[in-house]
Parts: sequence; structure tokens; C-alpha cells
Amino acid sequence: MRVPRDQIARAFSGAHGYEAHAPVQREVARALAARIAALDLPCNLRGLEIGCGTGFLTRELQAAHVTGDWLVTDLSPDMVARCHAALGASPRHRFAPLDGETGTPEGGPFDLICSSLALQWFADAPAALARMAGWLAPGGHLVVTTLGLETFAEWRAAHAALGLTPGTPAFLPAENYAQLPEAEVCVTRHVQRSADAHAFLRSVKAIGAGTAHGAHTPLTPAQLRAVMAQFDLNGSTATYEVVTIHLNRPPIRTR
Ligand SMILES: C[S@@+](CC[C@H](N)C(=O)[O-])C[C@H]1O[C@@H](n2cnc3c(N)ncnc32)[C@H](O)[C@@H]1O
Repeated sequence: MRVPRDQIARAFSGAHGYEAHAPVQREVARALAARIAALDLPCNLRGLEIGCGTGFLTRELQAAHVTGDWLVTDLSPDMVARCHAALGASPRHRFAPLDGETGTPEGGPFDLICSSLALQWFADAPAALARMAGWLAPGGHLVVTTLGLETFAEWRAAHAALGLTPGTPAFLPAENYAQLPEAEVCVTRHVQRSADAHAFLRSVKAIGAGTAHGAHTPLTPAQLRAVMAQFDLNGSTATYEVVTIHLNRPPIRTR
């Protein structure tokens, strides 16, 4: 998705109501932590988290006893600080701002690299995953969730019914990730019902996800009211299509 980095960072830095408005993100982080906890990981794990936000995944991993030496990162320094505060003191966690798409983390290689619902903000998430795989130690795992093409299909449909185009980012189809070598890809759908379109838009803004893609021309107030009425006619629901991608770097074979 093409959204300027500074806009993304600003929107998330200002997302003070994130946790109260992110039930799907919480559920997805919990499922991802359970998936990671079931892996055969070394006890002296070197872990890297990308796009930690306020720390849903960071805390779920701690609760699931996925312990080790962690580098926890996010594009937004404010999010890094909130995640750190929410986790509390932990001598085995380091926190640092990092653009997961263009930056390079200190302290690699890693036995585990993970991320929950951050890669949909990258300009080219499949290429970024291929780059991250290069930070894995032999036998290491890269396990992430991101949003797929069907995400917010209802909001797009409300626009389409009126011949309008939404600012909703162009999420990638899950098949784009299946082209990564040895990638295991699975898709789940989570439907969130809002009281009405106002509540839906409020929650999207509260989680910092209201930034439109660069080429979007904003709707007029009358157009927006018509889209919101259409969205409500269709039941005020929004689907999150969650794509989980798992890459495992082969271990070094000894004879
Ligand atoms: C929807 S939140 C998810 C946060 C957390 N992982 C969770 O599950 O609640 C997306 C996070 O990705 C971060 N992000 C967006 N683009 C990023 C990038 N290029 N590199 C690192 N983090 C990024 C945002 O700052 C934000 O904190």
C-alpha cells in the first residue's frame, strides 16, 4: 500500500484509544502467539517483533512463555514507548523504533521474527518478508499476520453501489504471499459489527488506521453521508481478512 511513512507514524502515534477499539487485533495477536508457542523454539531464543503497536502480541507471547532475548520494534516511537510501558520491566526485552520495511535491526540473526497486523502498511509486503527472511538464523521462523484483499469489503461495496471509490488501502490477495519460497499461508475471516457507520469510522480512526492511500480524492460531505447510509443498509459490518504467513529457514544439516 502506498501511504507516506510519516502519515502512518503520525496516525498511530495519535491512536490513544487503540486497545479499546481493537477487538479483532487482540484476537489475532492471541491466535498468532498460540501458533508461535506451538513451534519448536530454542530456549535461548533471539526474537524480533516488527510493528509492536501497544503490545498485544508482545504480551500474549510473554503470557504464552515464549521467552528469550527480544528486540521489540515499531515505526512509531510513541507506540514503542506504550508497548514498553504496558509490558513493564523486563531485562530480556529491548525496545527500539524501526521501519520494518526499510530499516535493519541490530542483534541478528534471529530464531523468531514475528509481527501482527503491521505489514498491510508496507509498500511491498512480500518483498519485505523476503528481506526479513534473510535475518533468520538457520532453523529460524518468520511468522506474521497481515490483512488480505477482502478486508473492509463492505465499506468498498457501499462506495461501489454509489459509483464512488474509497480511500481504503489496496490490501494484497493472500496468493501474493504464497509465491514466497516455502511459505505456508492461511486465511481467516473476522467480522466486526458496529452500531452504525459513525461508530465504524470512529473505531477505524481510534486505532490509527484512518489514513487513506496517497491517490485518494476525499468524498464531499454529501457523498460520505450517502456511503454511510448504504453501509448501514447492508448491516454495518466490516470483515477483516487475516492472512497468516509462516516461513521456516532450513536448519544446517550436519553429517
Ligand atoms: C494495527 S497496528 C498493530 C499493532 C500490534 N502489532 C497489534 O497487533 O495490535 C499496526 C502497527 O504497525 C506499525 N507500522 C506501520 N508501518 C510500519 C513499518 N513500516 N515498520 C514498522 N512498524 C510499522 C504502526 O506504527 C502500528 O503500531
